[in-house]
Amino acid sequence: MYCQSNDELLELVNEARKVAKDGKVADYIPALGKANPGDLAVAIHYPDGTCLSAGDIERKITLQSISKVISLALVLMDRGYEHVFHHVGMEPTGDPFNSIAKLETMDVAKPLNPMINAGALAVTHLIIGSNVAERLQRLLKFIQTMAGNPDIGYCQEVAQSEFETAFLNRALCYFLKEHGIIKEDVEQLLDLYTKQCAIEMNCLDLARIGLVFAMDGVDPDSKAQVIPKDVARICKTFMVTCGMYNASGEFAIKIGIPAKSGVSGGIMGAVPRKFGIGVFGPALDEKGNSIAGIKFLEQLSRNYSLSMF
Ligand code: DON
Repeated sequence: MYCQSNDELLELVNEARKVAKDGKVADYIPALGKANPGDLAVAIHYPDGTCLSAGDIERKITLQSISKVISLALVLMDRGYEHVFHHVGMEPTGDPFNSIAKLETMDVAKPLNPMINAGALAVTHLIIGSNVAERLQRLLKFIQTMAGNPDIGYCQEVAQSEFETAFLNRALCYFLKEHGIIKEDVEQLLDLYTKQCAIEMNCLDLARIGLVFAMDGVDPDSKAQVIPKDVARICKTFMVTCGMYNASGEFAIKIGIPAKSGVSGGIMGAVPRKFGIGVFGPALDEKGNSIAGIKFLEQLSRNYSLSMF
């Protein structure tokens, strides 16, 4: 038996919110620094259409790194397995999400996985379309379908703020370009990547996307296969091994569900064949994951025995 009511959920939110004061809002992207560190919002989406939510659910968040798992799904559908994994690897790094260190120590300078920034840039580079606007539109359409919400767009202010300050991501791009992993103009790729990261939604939309991954790529309402089962499987595997960056091991032990975090404080969870979860709590721990969001998921997983291991 899983969580049955908004009240049950609210109790968990109120308890988890207490640790938000120990975290810090990301401000290396200046526009993200405006978030309220005390906010916490959660939503759970079940396959029968039931959706529970609690907390500051009217808040919208930008996906940031959560977008990486969705762009990976699109690119695997666009280009196929061989082509994608020619450009990016499958191994966790144990390093922070924006680390440049491993690139130079590898035999082949390809990023170790699609969830670190270097790997995500290599993946976004593969989104098909004749210009940035068309590529972004294809990604947005894909996300709108998964969320069941045609109004999802991106936040121009956050995209612009990241574009103006993304010096480390520019460095990663130039390194990848030097080694032939990416071919396109770096500014053009950053334009697309920062808009991708600034795609904005509430935690109910996020839970709905998590549900599509949880249901092996099947839309719970239309029953359409919006992501091939095998692509959904690959994405969920990356969520387990690298979804929470260098906290993925601890997250797997303590919580045990495929999940992907972002520096905006979002976490998308996909409990296989059971439900999708959307969390938003902008105060982050030292590894860049929502501190109250993780606390909430820990308690949820314990109460309802959600670990897949
Ligand atoms: O590229 C960046 O730095 C951000 N747009 C996304 C990073 C991120 O969300 C890492 N998450 N924990």
